[in-house]
Amino acid sequence: MNAMELITRIRLPLSRAVGTGRARMGTATHAASSVAGMAIPPGFSAKEAKLTRLDTPQPPWRPVPAADPGTTMPPGFKAQVAQLITFEMPERVTGSTGDRALGKALVNAWRRDGIIQIAMSAEQRRLWEEAKAASRRFFRKPHAEKAACVDSQSYSGYIASGEEVTDGIADYSEIFTITKDLDMAEPRVRAKWPCHGPCPWPDVEMKEPMTRYNESLGTEGEKLLQLVEFGLEVAPGSLTRHTRDGWHHTRVLRFPPRNATNGKGKEGRGIGSHTDYGLLVISAQDEVGGLFIRRPSQDEKFANWERSAAGLKEDDDGWFYVPPVAGTHTVILGDMMQYLTRNYLTATPHKVGLNTRERFAFAYFHEPSFQAVLKPLEGGCGGNGLGSSSSSSSSSSSSSSSSSSSSSSSSSSSSPSVSDTEGVHYGTHFTNMFIRNYPDRITTRRLMAENRYSLLSSPELRTMGALPALP
Ligand SMILES: [Fe+2]
Repeated sequence: MNAMELITRIRLPLSRAVGTGRARMGTATHAASSVAGMAIPPGFSAKEAKLTRLDTPQPPWRPVPAADPGTTMPPGFKAQVAQLITFEMPERVTGSTGDRALGKALVNAWRRDGIIQIAMSAEQRRLWEEAKAASRRFFRKPHAEKAACVDSQSYSGYIASGEEVTDGIADYSEIFTITKDLDMAEPRVRAKWPCHGPCPWPDVEMKEPMTRYNESLGTEGEKLLQLVEFGLEVAPGSLTRHTRDGWHHTRVLRFPPRNATNGKGKEGRGIGSHTDYGLLVISAQDEVGGLFIRRPSQDEKFANWERSAAGLKEDDDGWFYVPPVAGTHTVILGDMMQYLTRNYLTATPHKVGLNTRERFAFAYFHEPSFQAVLKPLEGGCGGNGLGSSSSSSSSSSSSSSSSSSSSSSSSSSSSPSVSDTEGVHYGTHFTNMFIRNYPDRITTRRLMAENRYSLLSSPELRTMGALPALP
């Protein structure tokens, strides 16, 4: 792919800084300069960027960030402001030269920034608006009506403000979680697999738009994984073979204003520092703002599949605020991507601050199958191996069947262990996360009372480990 082809894959936000052309991480007070009002992607000159603007058809909508993106940052936080270039996704991934170059650009952006920004298609933009409206409608319902949306077998449904616990502290987000919606006759539900059960939808007005949006993001997630495979130079199917019947799920989120929390008499927080547990997290946010991330750093390596990374670096310096940009999704990486790539791509620590207004957001998790037993990828990066540039090791234990909080691991200053031998069972990792986040939920109590946790080590729940790579 030539330079022009790559540039047309990158939708350029207006009024971005130039210079290195990187997805800039500037301070809130940084005065952005520009050439013809456009950012320049890595490796391209101002001249090329000008030509691209003339040649690239503009969409009917256009991401226009605020003059100073830092103005939406929640009060009370100290952070630099991330100014991200926006990548445009292809309609289909075919393995073209352009796909391969885009995959490499995405991987490089994640390794540098920990987050990428992709343009929504016109259809996704419509679906996001519908989902946002359904979310507002749901969260406006009386508490009792929302609180009735729980299920004792799945973690789908309503999570009240203050119910979620991150690192022992209540988060004030209000959430509707959507996991795989399985009815009571479904064999895995009948067999009482942990976390498997129906989604307790409040009504069809919630179910239909959320389902449509999730399906669209499922397609996007698969495309992204295919591009990542190209970017990593691993065999096609190395990642996507794990997402057959993927345990994809969604968090529909509402954050109260910082001074009007849940009435417990103290100022709350949004969501504390943590990493997410799977492969990709594709998020949309409204115009209010509240997301903070940490960039990858050799000095900060977490292994959340072995020991909880929740709460780490919460009050440290080094956070970047991600301002809302209309018409875009952001994508961060989860624990299993880090494990599979031997720390070449790392899970992105993030947290959410409460702002002066209520805020609505949507996080879609593109995940391996619940039954998947993941092993680190072989090869990659032109035959040099993925672990070679980030000094991963292959010693120590994995948490494939034990509680993830009981294993030992380095949390900083050295690379976490990546065991080749046992692998990580995704279903166990997911279950551990939800037990830890919702210790008092009816689902956790039933799971424990019926000893469902022990099923996680049975062969029937580990059927994805032996699947061959797709041709
Ligand atoms: Fe998260």
